[in-house]
Amino acid sequence: MFVRFGLKGKLVLSDRIGDTAEETIAEAVQEANERLFRRGVPREVSSGEVGQITSWRVEGNEIRLELQSGPYTRAHDALFRFRKQLSLAMGRHRLGIRGIAIDEFVLTLGEEVPDTAIPKLPFIGEVRRETGRVQVRLDLSAGELEDRVPDRLLRLIEEKMEAKAYGGKAEHWELLYQSPERPPIYRENPTEEMIARGWIRHGASRGQWIYAPPAVQVFRALEAIVQEEILRPLGFSEMIFPKLVPWEVWMRSGHAKGVYPEIYYISTPKTRDPAYWEDIGDYFKVTGKVWVEEIRKRIEGPIGGMCYAQCPPFWPFVQGETISNDVLPIRIYDRSGTSHRYESGGIHGIERVDEFHRIEVLWIGTVEQTVKVAEELHDRYRHVFEDILELQWRAARVTPWFMAQEGLIGEGCCAGAVGTTDYEALLPYNGTWLEFQNVSVNGDKYPRGFNVKLQSGAECWSGCSGIGYERWAAAFLSQKGFDTSRWPEAVAERVGEFREIFRFV
Ligand code: SER
Ligand code: ZN
Repeated sequence: MFVRFGLKGKLVLSDRIGDTAEETIAEAVQEANERLFRRGVPREVSSGEVGQITSWRVEGNEIRLELQSGPYTRAHDALFRFRKQLSLAMGRHRLGIRGIAIDEFVLTLGEEVPDTAIPKLPFIGEVRRETGRVQVRLDLSAGELEDRVPDRLLRLIEEKMEAKAYGGKAEHWELLYQSPERPPIYRENPTEEMIARGWIRHGASRGQWIYAPPAVQVFRALEAIVQEEILRPLGFSEMIFPKLVPWEVWMRSGHAKGVYPEIYYISTPKTRDPAYWEDIGDYFKVTGKVWVEEIRKRIEGPIGGMCYAQCPPFWPFVQGETISNDVLPIRIYDRSGTSHRYESGGIHGIERVDEFHRIEVLWIGTVEQTVKVAEELHDRYRHVFEDILELQWRAARVTPWFMAQEGLIGEGCCAGAVGTTDYEALLPYNGTWLEFQNVSVNGDKYPRGFNVKLQSGAECWSGCSGIGYERWAAAFLSQKGFDTSRWPEAVAERVGEFREIFRFV
């Protein structure tokens, strides 16, 4: 794609620039255009593609500059390189560079860039189309240019164009394994049956269930199987991960790129002084209503959101650390609480909810160790689904979960071993397949994001696997129904008698 960066700005010096200093500047400009800006640029790249100072003049204590570039030594990079070089040269004249001011910064792109690929951000000013070109005026400070905001912006525009090119294309899905067919012994919707039996009732919040003892007995029986058949034999140890996730974590995990439509946001009080809140409580006492409008004015944040992907809030535990060789691979899991997602409307069954429960399995090691643990898990899962739960299920390679959660689509992003395998179970009542858990090799994404290294210096990778209680139960009950005498032994035994302790009149 055609890309040009154009910049007008000035370097502000500590004092008036005299004639001899101006001569030095002229030499520095020539040196920069001929050599400094070509540094690191492949020889075959034509000079029109590389940053150049196209004009300059001295005015009092300022040097007014114009820079142009293609994709190499971009105008803003060139400016900062030049500043560095010039500040040495100006030393001789007892002049220091006091500041940089940007008057204009224009990104020029090929006409193939649609308006919809240009993000709506406060620093994006006028977008002008002329034949063959799109000119985007950027209102950026020198600091933002030095932080390479234009480069990330260009990358983002390219990503948006790629995403549009994929358009309606489905996310990646490739069958890996399909279990033998098992004639279903049940054909109803298990959620309806659970409601009818009083095992579950809607919670007061959206997409939330309250689970009565029999439902929990089923969850815990499945959980016991996971512990005994998978986690214990493979040597996983239990941890407790936080369930309130601040932006700092999602900035590093990548969720900050796109999870916003699905977050349950968290805010904190501006102060915990009871006097500050007294009228809010009084309002409720008098009106019977919670004064939400007023509360909104008295809280800070949002500071982040409630647990969404379960593994990201673990990572601060190892952030910035180098892990000893002798403890690898690290194998841990968390089953300490809920995950929350603001799901699209029409939430009915226990299989799609805003609040759900799962075991998150996580491992860290070298590339080989990480891939090997994933394989061990696949083997154990297969054993559980085939021999213990006797499910009709299948496994498929899908768009990696972190790409899906960051709002990225696309295929072939992740060479070889990195990626997600979804496990799906048939729901006989409607003939669809339910994704009830996943196993992912996440490559160096997390170790890189949270700056975690291995003692050996080998590349650090990680993986994770989410086991959803609601989804496992939905899969199992859909296929096996509610008559425990027809259930696989291992589950029936662990569930025992249903404790139906409520009766309403
Ligand atoms: N962390 C992964 C996810 O959110 C696996 O549970 O899907
Ligand atoms: Zn995870």
